[in-house]
Amino acid sequence: MGDPPGAATFRTPAEAYDRHVGRYGRELARALIGAAGLRPGHRALDVGCGPGALTNELVDLLGAEQVAAVDPSVPFVEACRRRLPGVHVEVASAETLPFEDSAFDHALAQLVVNFMTDPPAGVRELQRVTRSGGTVAAAVWDYAEEMTLLRRFWDAALALDPSAADRDEGRCMPFCTAEELGDLWSTAGLAEVRVRPVVVAAGYDDFEDLWQPLELGVAPSGAYAASLPSERRMALKAELRRRLGVGDEPFRLRARAWIATGHVRK
Ligand SMILES: C[S@@+](CC[C@H](N)C(=O)[O-])C[C@H]1O[C@@H](n2cnc3c(N)ncnc32)[C@H](O)[C@@H]1O
Repeated sequence: MGDPPGAATFRTPAEAYDRHVGRYGRELARALIGAAGLRPGHRALDVGCGPGALTNELVDLLGAEQVAAVDPSVPFVEACRRRLPGVHVEVASAETLPFEDSAFDHALAQLVVNFMTDPPAGVRELQRVTRSGGTVAAAVWDYAEEMTLLRRFWDAALALDPSAADRDEGRCMPFCTAEELGDLWSTAGLAEVRVRPVVVAAGYDDFEDLWQPLELGVAPSGAYAASLPSERRMALKAELRRRLGVGDEPFRLRARAWIATGHVRK
């Protein structure tokens, strides 16, 4: 398989990620954990943990010693380790997980499947490290429609630069529809596959608060914004602000994701 769109854009400081898409992470993590049916006493793996939004929620429910996490981004792994002492956090990719068969009750991947180099191999690995009857679960943004921040961002970018179409995450991200994500789970051989929508929200102090992390080049959207010469970047900023209809007052944005769950066959 070729390189996925944008995986390299997460080799940035964790704080930049926190202020961009990371704002939605904790609420999304709670929904993912609920859908996967985790209970105290279970052992769980967070694949593609980033700076640790889902890891943190797993620790709150299960305790640090019951949680492990991996991510290929060194700065994100370092941040996750720093933030969550006691959690086993390693630099690794979904496609080659450094764990034994059936090591966990559940394996979860939040906003990661679409960035994997080889998603079928990644899902096979999530399955391999999960005990029979355990849950393999993932969340992927609805990039094409109701992830408001990213949808408005790419709409603004396309209005000014039609050649950005191949970078629009609503077009280039795999598995960002319920059907495609469900097929990935079913084809992997998981049982009782279910895909459901979840809507989360994040708050911003003002438009600057939303815009600043984009200038830091984090995630595919930030990488695109940071790549523009200053005049075009300022035009994009103005267009995004206009399309969001926000300004100097606090506001909230909603974001829809798809959550897929399935059980490892006995
Ligand atoms: C959008 S971030 C999500 C981070 C975190 N799960 C969260 O919800 O905040 C995508 C993450 O996937 C990681 N990633 C990219 N390719 C990966 C792969 N092949 N296996 C595992 N993680 C990967 C990135 O380094 C990044 O941390």
